[in-house]
Amino acid sequence: MFDGLKLTDLSAASFGVLRKASNTRPTIWIVEKNGVRAVVKDFSKNRFLFRNIVGRFLIWREAKAYRKLSGIKGVPEFYGVIDGLALAIEEIPGKSLENLENEIHLPHTFFESMETLVNDFHQRGLAHCDLKRAPNTLLGDDGMPYIVDWAASISRGDLCLPPFNPVFRRFMLDDEMAIVKLALRHCPDRVSAEKKARYYYRSRGEKCIRAIRDRLREILQKAA
Ligand SMILES: Nc1ncnc2c1ncn2[C@@H]1O[C@H](COP(=O)(O)OP(=O)(O)OP(=O)(O)O)[C@@H](O)[C@H]1O
Ligand SMILES: [Mg+2]
Repeated sequence: MFDGLKLTDLSAASFGVLRKASNTRPTIWIVEKNGVRAVVKDFSKNRFLFRNIVGRFLIWREAKAYRKLSGIKGVPEFYGVIDGLALAIEEIPGKSLENLENEIHLPHTFFESMETLVNDFHQRGLAHCDLKRAPNTLLGDDGMPYIVDWAASISRGDLCLPPFNPVFRRFMLDDEMAIVKLALRHCPDRVSAEKKARYYYRSRGEKCIRAIRDRLREILQKAA
């Protein structure tokens, strides 16, 4: 549908800029073509070295994740990569969870749907790894959760060799704990004692795994 769209067409086809580019962040466009709206993440306005090294790498990684996630309800449909520097995905009408607790309190059923969604992509062998950031979860106008920003996601295959294999399980647990973190802001009374205990628990082995994970995430997030 967005086949043949070029970076040079973006401003003509565009409906507006959701966020301007900064040193390390892409421009986020809302684009409309033949009545279909898409969100385009575009590194073409970033500095030469950044866009060609980091930008291309992140677009490649995120596109790879979207291809794996195809068909999962709660993940925007992937429309394609544009000139290696941008990617187009389905626009999800709604709002992000950033500071949303100051406006409304989401019901516990929202977080149950989020658990199903997280479980669905874990079964595809992918961990999101950045779900604790509330802007990466959207509340759709249909009341359902949607997850965006897959640039820092990790595939089971990326970490299949020792000593990294327990780290992938840890990333999956982190995704699950991110749901608890968000739910505690919205409906703390509906979070089970067991989940709260798991969320606050730290063993020595876990501290060690967290240290490896935090280092890896720091590297990926610096790049993202
Ligand atoms: N498919 C979408 N539909 C609606 N809004 C979206 C969509 N994708 C992204 N957004 C909005 O754009 C914001 C930024 O998107 P995204 O997180 O993918 O970019 P980013 O450059 O990785 O940002 P950040 O560094 O802040 O995480 C999201 O928080 C969300 O508000
Ligand atoms: Mg984000």
